[in-house]
Amino acid sequence: MAAGLMASVSGGWSSIVRRRRYWSMFGIFAIVLFFGYSLFILNTEYDRVSKIINFLKPNKNSDNNNNSNNNEEVHLDPFIEQLQAKYKPTLHRIDNSTFITREGYKYTVNDTNHYFTEPLGKRLLILDADSRLETEPGHMLAPPPLTHEDIKRGTAGMMNHFLYAMIHGYDYRLVKSPKDPNRHGTWSKVSLIREALKTHDFVVFLDSDANFQYYNLPYEWLMNLWGVNGDTLAAMPEDPNSKVNQDSNGWVLWNTGFVTAQQSERTQDMFNRWDNCPSGERYKECKHWAYDWAHEQAAFGAFVRYEYEVGKDLIAISCMDGNGASYIGDKKCGGVFVSHHWGDKDRTIKQLYDRLDGHSVEDLHRHFHENQDKYYVNAEKYTYPIKDITI
Ligand SMILES: *[C@@H]1O[C@H](CO)[C@@H](O)[C@H](O)[C@H]1NC(C)=O
Ligand SMILES: *[C@@H]1O[C@H](CO)[C@@H](O)[C@H](O)[C@H]1NC(C)=O
Ligand SMILES: *[C@@H]1O[C@H](CO)[C@@H](O)[C@H](O)[C@H]1NC(C)=O
Repeated sequence: MAAGLMASVSGGWSSIVRRRRYWSMFGIFAIVLFFGYSLFILNTEYDRVSKIINFLKPNKNSDNNNNSNNNEEVHLDPFIEQLQAKYKPTLHRIDNSTFITREGYKYTVNDTNHYFTEPLGKRLLILDADSRLETEPGHMLAPPPLTHEDIKRGTAGMMNHFLYAMIHGYDYRLVKSPKDPNRHGTWSKVSLIREALKTHDFVVFLDSDANFQYYNLPYEWLMNLWGVNGDTLAAMPEDPNSKVNQDSNGWVLWNTGFVTAQQSERTQDMFNRWDNCPSGERYKECKHWAYDWAHEQAAFGAFVRYEYEVGKDLIAISCMDGNGASYIGDKKCGGVFVSHHWGDKDRTIKQLYDRLDGHSVEDLHRHFHENQDKYYVNAEKYTYPIKDITI
């Protein structure tokens, strides 16, 4: 009897304790739920607010403001300030319709093509990418000094792009691109341009053997010449029109060693189609371009461009203006504004030092080196699909 009572009492206590434990566990669960929910609300609210803030930012996707003098440029690095002051007297005005080249060609911007009237500043990014960036002498990432003796061809091309960007106050990025086991290395430019368009309104990508021929000619002027406007998604130069450079319909390929792209949702969509081309989902026959030459260039030419309106969505820059070089025989691909030295890659070195003395090259490279946190992005560890990288 006593033993039974004891048992029932102890049973009663333990069930109360159990019930308490149950309630306290429920309490903890409720608290966790509450905090989780609050965090979720806060997060969506944060996203919403940051979207509004982004939308209100004066330099985001609008062509109608004075953003060349945004805050960033008020605190111009003294080296860049000096460099810009040196080139300023030689700059060709964006609104000057005519330009006469060294060869004596007279170029005139069509009256209807004066879309750009103000410098784009940091809204325009000059983008370099390479998976083989080394720190050996002569490379972009090498410690200074960068000498004429050591300099590599690719480095000379990148220095040309960097200098051009600095003169005009454009943004510049050098990206160490990933080595993707599933596709040829040249494909990485497609993802990188797309990602860079999430932070910049215009992206100009150049292979390291392509270079600007006139430091004094603003890119806005060139885009006016080529008819880039608010509708344009991308512009690329034509390849020399020979059999090997044509798609299966005989349409000459566009060279992806020099790509100008403008941010818009449609541009993002186009770059996604392009980037996914070798998956074969949208374009069945595209798979083999993952590795076969001419890789992403052939994929764009054979599939992607057929889905867009040429002359409106897409612009083909003539081979004369944007591909080849003046020493190439046929005089149809003169590389007048942007030369592409596929045949003689040493030309990038020669041209760099023809137009800039060795000390200035060293100073410019030193500036790059000291500001690598701003100009250099290591994307080596990314794998396809390259996403969520800030360029
Ligand atoms: C740009 O700045 C100039 C002079 O500072 C001013 O006259 C002009 O109205 C401004 N334009 C816009 C679109 O704000
Ligand atoms: C336009 O540029 C040409 C050089 O190509 C120059 O001769 C001319 O004076 C410039 N015009 C103006 C109005 O600045
Ligand atoms: C400029 O105008 C000429 C003649 O009207 C035309 O053939 C050419 O395609 C135009 N160029 C651009 C880039 O709009």
